[in-house]
Amino acid sequence: MVNLDDKYNRSFKTLRVSLLSTCNLGCIYCTMGSEDEIAHDHRPQTPAANFVKIIAGLHGQLNLKTIRLTGGEPLLYRELETVIKGITALGIADVRMTSNGFLLERMAPKLKAAGLRSVNVSLDAMDAETFFAVTRRKQLQRTLAGIEAAIACGLEVKINSVIMQGQNDKQILPLLNYAFKQNVPIRFLEVMAMGHLFGNSEKHLFTQHQILDVIASRYNFVRLARKTSATANYWQTEQGGIFGIIGNESEPFCQDCNRLRLDAEGNIYGCLSNNNPIPLNGNENNIELTGKLQQAMQQKQNLHFVGSALSMMHIGG
Ligand code: GTP
Ligand code: 5AD
Ligand code: SF4
Repeated sequence: MVNLDDKYNRSFKTLRVSLLSTCNLGCIYCTMGSEDEIAHDHRPQTPAANFVKIIAGLHGQLNLKTIRLTGGEPLLYRELETVIKGITALGIADVRMTSNGFLLERMAPKLKAAGLRSVNVSLDAMDAETFFAVTRRKQLQRTLAGIEAAIACGLEVKINSVIMQGQNDKQILPLLNYAFKQNVPIRFLEVMAMGHLFGNSEKHLFTQHQILDVIASRYNFVRLARKTSATANYWQTEQGGIFGIIGNESEPFCQDCNRLRLDAEGNIYGCLSNNNPIPLNGNENNIELTGKLQQAMQQKQNLHFVGSALSMMHIGG
């Protein structure tokens, strides 16, 4: 095992893999809606075998605990079941996914059978008009059906809701009530300065404090202890419902971040805020790989989330 010399004693334990850089939604906090980023089923995709080979090399050095599949939209990746099976065959049992849920209703049972453990689904509104304004897509119902199918087949489900000032902040309570009804945790995300919002996110920010104020108008709650390396802080209402907030601005969690990222072109990144890709091809020897991982560790921020002009759709959130 390599010793990655980090002054905060951080190690890489979770690998986030962006399987492709396109999506079938066009969330306004993520993309400008360019042709380049929105759904292209015919495009060539990186073969599952390439991902598995690179992941095997990284696992050999890092003894990874969790792999999270992201994108773009991972459900558009044609060899999704193959890649999940390939990863679990490496002895990594904790395979998770972050998805917009649009194609999840049909896929959930197959993914569960392939070895997927959990899915975080983005859902930013319970009202069709607001859902359209945020995602540029109609059919809120498809996301809801995806969430419910995933719950029904035994996947662990969490809901992610990015809250933007003046856009969907009125949706906080309806979203919370939906999550409570489905009996799954929900996390509200402060908008992050990524991609086209880099240097331009402040006016959209609806802070952790503001989110808590909205929830306090309806529920009494207590804060739960934070788990090491978690992105979210969690609270529990008197009735037992759990909600979290991922407060990248208000309460950054860089100090114990354990995440490494791999994009669909085989580049690794030690930090969401760093847009200097470190290329891998899966043929590196141990010494070369250790060197690249040390480089990735040095990319980590000290204490504060900075953001990056690199699209979230590319680096994988
Ligand atoms: P859980 O393990 O289920 O808690 O998932 P997660 O929160 O790590 O993953 P998810 O894909 O649901 O990401 C939720 C939000 O956290 C997204 O907006 C990510 O961009 C953000 N996020 C994930 N990892 C990091 C990180 O290392 N640094 C920062 N600043 N944000 C991150
Ligand atoms: N700020 C906060 N969250 C974002 N996501 C995508 N772009 C942003 C942004 N600029 C979220 C998605 C998904 C997760 C991977 O990241 O909604 O839940
Ligand atoms: Fe697609 Fe996720 Fe970006 Fe929305 S946030 S456009 S669902 S990649």
